[in-house]
Amino acid sequence: MRAGDGRHLYYHPVTWWPRTPGPIERRAGFDRAAPGESRTMAARAVARRKVTVIGAGMVGGTVAQMLATRDYADVVLVDIVEGMPQGKSLDLMQVGPLLGYDTTLTGANSYEETARSDVVVITSGIARKPGMSRDDLLRTNMGIVGSVTKQVVPGSPDAVVIVVSNPLDAMCHVAFDNAGLPRERVIGMAGVLDSARFRAFIAMELNVSVEDVSAMVLGGHGDTMVPLSRYSTVAGIPITELLPAERVKAIEQRTASGGAEIVGLLKTGSAYYAPGMSVVEMVDAVLLDKHRVLPCSVLLQGEYGIDGLFVGVPVKLAAGGVEEIIQIKLTDEEQAALNNSAGAVRSLVEAMAALKENAES
Ligand code: APR
Repeated sequence: MRAGDGRHLYYHPVTWWPRTPGPIERRAGFDRAAPGESRTMAARAVARRKVTVIGAGMVGGTVAQMLATRDYADVVLVDIVEGMPQGKSLDLMQVGPLLGYDTTLTGANSYEETARSDVVVITSGIARKPGMSRDDLLRTNMGIVGSVTKQVVPGSPDAVVIVVSNPLDAMCHVAFDNAGLPRERVIGMAGVLDSARFRAFIAMELNVSVEDVSAMVLGGHGDTMVPLSRYSTVAGIPITELLPAERVKAIEQRTASGGAEIVGLLKTGSAYYAPGMSVVEMVDAVLLDKHRVLPCSVLLQGEYGIDGLFVGVPVKLAAGGVEEIIQIKLTDEEQAALNNSAGAVRSLVEAMAALKENAES
């Protein structure tokens, strides 16, 4: 909604009852109420939040589309292809009257419009093509993710950066190294997607509503990920009590190759609806200061016995990014699987270091 003078009105669910302003309320102006004016009235007249999405391809376009319908932040779409982010943004502006949102979407091929973003989502990169080696993919996407991070962060030094480009955990390292931001504000999107896939497969297997299924997936984003069935439940009941062990195993394996299954079916690209919505769930957690507990790829510094690697673990996600890394008790077998997954991330990081060294020598 807009005020009479054209300014955007800002509504936040928590504003309708008084409480001490947290960081998000302070930034939204709750603590700037004039005498006689309620904090809610003061906050309403403040500009909208801004989310920049870099890479306006299938995933980036889907993030922009789903974020637009949220109607709480404006969106800047950036791509190197001229006209494409502008065209997608205009198309999505024209959905506004149909779905009733006032989100302003702006397409760009440079970074001026991205200044003062609250969240930056990085989806730019190329997909692995037939015949392309892992190192070729790594080299190309390292270059792209490093370059876009260096261009976007100076204008948005307070942003939370969400990395989506693959190979995910390795690209988190690249973004972190180039951003110069604290580890709380560089976060990889993988666990939310992998858990959503796990939840969908559990619901399909048991013929129950996905609403009643919660699931947890740890580890790197790849076939070494660790679906945690012991912590995955239907209305609180662990799935290990509802399904025979071999069905649980089969669902875990299908989850771990969930991305590849879709690539095999699509043939010309990879998944984008569920990845896009997974990003939006994380943006919601940050911009609505929700304190969601979600599995995300974060830089571990000793947690789970892992040091200096981005690996997926449950975190509390709120206004400033990662508020807490939640350490759950793992069995020896689960810890071994997590270590194995972290080992796969380590080998990618080492491969990137070797590529960098070769390029410099
Ligand atoms: N700056 C900005 N945009 C770039 C750059 C760059 N330097 N390099 C590439 N891009 C853009 C491409 O022009 C393309 O529009 O990134 C976009 C990537 O979109 P798609 O090829 O459609 O790929 P998508 O399916 O969206 O996947 C993006 O997310 O899930 C991961 O594995 C996936 O790494 C991939 C990423």
